[in-house]
Amino acid sequence: MKLRVETNKPNMQNELEEVIRAFAPYAVFDPLGEVISAEISEFSSSARTSIRSSLAPEISREYELSDDLTDLMRKRLVKRYLKRDLYDYLCLLTGKTLSYGSLTGIRPTKLYYELESEGVSPEERLSDFFRVSPGKVRLLSDIVRTQRGVIGAETEKVDWFVNIPFCPTRCAYCSFLSEVIRPKKSNLPAYTDALIRDILAVPSGRPRRAIYVGGGTPTSLPPDLLDRILAAIDAHGEEFTVEAGRPETLSEEKVAVLAARGVTRVSVNPQSFKQETLDLIGRRHTVEDIFHAYDLVRRGGAFDVNMDFITMLPGETFEDFRRSIEIAIDLSPENVTVHSLSVKRGSVFAESGYDNHSDTLAERMSDFARSALEGAGYRPYYIYRQKNTSGRQENVGYAKEGKVCRYNVDIMEETHDIYASGAGAISKRLFGNGRIERLAEVKEIKGYLERIDELIRKKIVFFKD
Ligand SMILES: C[S@@+](CC[C@H](N)C(=O)[O-])C[C@H]1O[C@@H](n2cnc3c(N)ncnc32)[C@H](O)[C@@H]1O
Ligand code: SF4
Repeated sequence: MKLRVETNKPNMQNELEEVIRAFAPYAVFDPLGEVISAEISEFSSSARTSIRSSLAPEISREYELSDDLTDLMRKRLVKRYLKRDLYDYLCLLTGKTLSYGSLTGIRPTKLYYELESEGVSPEERLSDFFRVSPGKVRLLSDIVRTQRGVIGAETEKVDWFVNIPFCPTRCAYCSFLSEVIRPKKSNLPAYTDALIRDILAVPSGRPRRAIYVGGGTPTSLPPDLLDRILAAIDAHGEEFTVEAGRPETLSEEKVAVLAARGVTRVSVNPQSFKQETLDLIGRRHTVEDIFHAYDLVRRGGAFDVNMDFITMLPGETFEDFRRSIEIAIDLSPENVTVHSLSVKRGSVFAESGYDNHSDTLAERMSDFARSALEGAGYRPYYIYRQKNTSGRQENVGYAKEGKVCRYNVDIMEETHDIYASGAGAISKRLFGNGRIERLAEVKEIKGYLERIDELIRKKIVFFKD
């Protein structure tokens, strides 16, 4: 359907379109489309919203704006009214409600903390004002509860991210800019050399809280290169994650490297335990390989293990998904992360037009994962939402008691500076008034190698006091 949003708040255009997309994932915004008008008129102590189109009767509501509000609070409130009233209008128009109501952002728990700081009850506000379903309100408050003691702790320390953007093959759902390794073409030693220079250039004055080596699939490097990179990181007991997402990339030798270099947490990602699904999504490994990799990691060191899963993979029924989660629970990794499939631009799925929008099945899978994992002693500890996900569900990380991954909490709640190295890595610096600055490195490997000196200089300036 072609639509056009007209608003007198031009800086909200994207957010308003996002609310509509949550109802109609394939809506196209086109200057010649059907007009939905979402406007708010502000007066000194009140505001009036008006949502109109030729498709349903107008919603027009009046709100008082108390004199006690700071400018920032007033601005936020006006935005929230407009979005929420558009949401209500679309509910009337479509006869549907959404489990996250009018929320569109990536980080719903940040809103939870924001509401808390405004002195209101986040649970009540999320439910009554933002129209979040009771189940999702409970999920958010459970996550906030699990985060207590971890969130915002040790802010004098920094987190470290190191990107190794190589993979054995490309998975059909993935849009990450990682390169498929081709033995003759991929210049892995050159990337390793540049990355090590990048890592060593990081200002060393501040203690580290958590280190995360991700990608891509870091363990797709040969053991000697992996060892050189981990040695340059030079960990001393910090939380230290390495993604070994693709099970077929692990070997006894690589696990020994991880153990020797102080890695404390390893991801071995099944995505699904159904062989047909693995074949369909281009993982090119067997279910047996996942068990074998898990066994190698368990025997090779005292690592915490994380396993990633995705709901709504093609051809999967509820029973298939249930089976995967139950197998994971039997294996008993310390962390399990359940993603909702997002059809991303640039992925094979997007190009082939794969439709992942069965709302009820997506929600059933997410809800099942939650209850099964909670029943097995896991607690949800971080959440983020992506665009274009099945049933507008979420991604949630679950942890056993005492096994929360600090890095994941810090990056999602944006509480710590991050020193990032590697192609496409993004460093982050926080300033006292909530301002965040980011510095992105060149994404393409070729450009990264060519411009490494300049990138290092920029990073040194970026982190200078
Ligand atoms: C940054 S990726 C890298 C992990 C690792 N390379 C692997 O594939 O196992 C982290 C996780 O995000 C999830 N993911 C990636 N693309 C996704 C998509 N389009 N929709 C949902 N989840 C996705 C997968 O579960 C994946 O394991
Ligand atoms: S999902 Fe992981 S292994 Fe697959 S292409 Fe993306 S980053 Fe690589």
